[in-house]
Amino acid sequence: MRKGILSLTAAAAAMTLGLAACGSEDADTSASSGASPAESSAAVAGKVGVILPDSKSSARWETADRKYLEEAFKAAGVAYDIQNAQGDKTQFQTIADQMITNGATVLMIVNLDSGTGKAVLDKAKAQGVATIDYDRLTLNGGASYYVSFDNTKVGTLQGEGLVKCLTDKKADKPIIAELNGSPTDNNATLFKNGYDGVLKAKYDSGDYVKGPDQSVPDWDNAQAGTIFEQMLTEQPKIAGVLAANDGLGNAAISVLKKNSLNGKVPVTGQDATVQGLQNILAGDQCMTVYKAIKKEADAASALAIGLAKGEKPAATGTVKDTESGADVPAVLLDPQPIFFDSVKDVVADGFVTKDELCTGEFADKCTEAGIQ
Ligand code: BGC
Repeated sequence: MRKGILSLTAAAAAMTLGLAACGSEDADTSASSGASPAESSAAVAGKVGVILPDSKSSARWETADRKYLEEAFKAAGVAYDIQNAQGDKTQFQTIADQMITNGATVLMIVNLDSGTGKAVLDKAKAQGVATIDYDRLTLNGGASYYVSFDNTKVGTLQGEGLVKCLTDKKADKPIIAELNGSPTDNNATLFKNGYDGVLKAKYDSGDYVKGPDQSVPDWDNAQAGTIFEQMLTEQPKIAGVLAANDGLGNAAISVLKKNSLNGKVPVTGQDATVQGLQNILAGDQCMTVYKAIKKEADAASALAIGLAKGEKPAATGTVKDTESGADVPAVLLDPQPIFFDSVKDVVADGFVTKDELCTGEFADKCTEAGIQ
């Protein structure tokens, strides 16, 4: 804390010197030499607080996002605090308050819903804390930056992936079930826009039949199992499942297994989790979408580190906040579809290791899939 005040004072002094120096060559020299120590101490003056949403809706938050963000902050020598709200909205706000009290100058959040996310962003802004929406856009939240993937494209890849797997299986007028993400996650809306864009054309042409279509509150995997069980009871002829992520996909696969339908009914996913990739190797899951989380964490931490140093970092584009109409400075990365033959790409990229993937029964499948 004291260090922060000191370096701010030093920066202010350097600025005053810089202003006073105008027009005089001598003073100019002293101003620039005065500026460099201030600059270097400003490099570590700020502190970044990161709030992750939970550890159950996807394995990614704790196994990938936390790891890559930590690595980036450590490498930059920037103080940071990464916490997980474990799906609890009250806890999310408490963590944010504590981070601000403890001197965070930058707050990066993955909201649990836009309402509570906005409350946190508003409070941060009121205290002069810079804000970044990480992965999920907080609608009407007014964060300074947004870093994510092209989430509509994620959905399009899921829709196209399901079509490919059904075509491979020569499915005839398959009944499709849709297991959507949390209704309070803007990403889930974008994923759905993406895959519905692909599937609607198939429903309209009569190639596919629209079956049950439901959202899973909070991406809760256990609830997804219950929901899919009901879907299958009511419509036993479901022949394809658009599941919005690997966790929901695995829930559907567990139910399909109980009915000896696994491997017969293609299921999609997202996140390239170890479980999702193993389900693909086993033939129970048709595809997943790999999002290189390291790139997302690197882009977000680069912005956060810039902000912590008092800079105004540049985004690469903007994203429209559909609620406020604002154009939010954004960095959006490209997702990649993964099928049996491309599981090896995820390993080659270092996102999962052969050791964690190719255990026990999966060893032979890994060899078959060309995983080195
Ligand atoms: C993320 C997905 C994740 C899901 C559940 C979404 O906002 O983009 O990667 O699977 O939340 O945590």
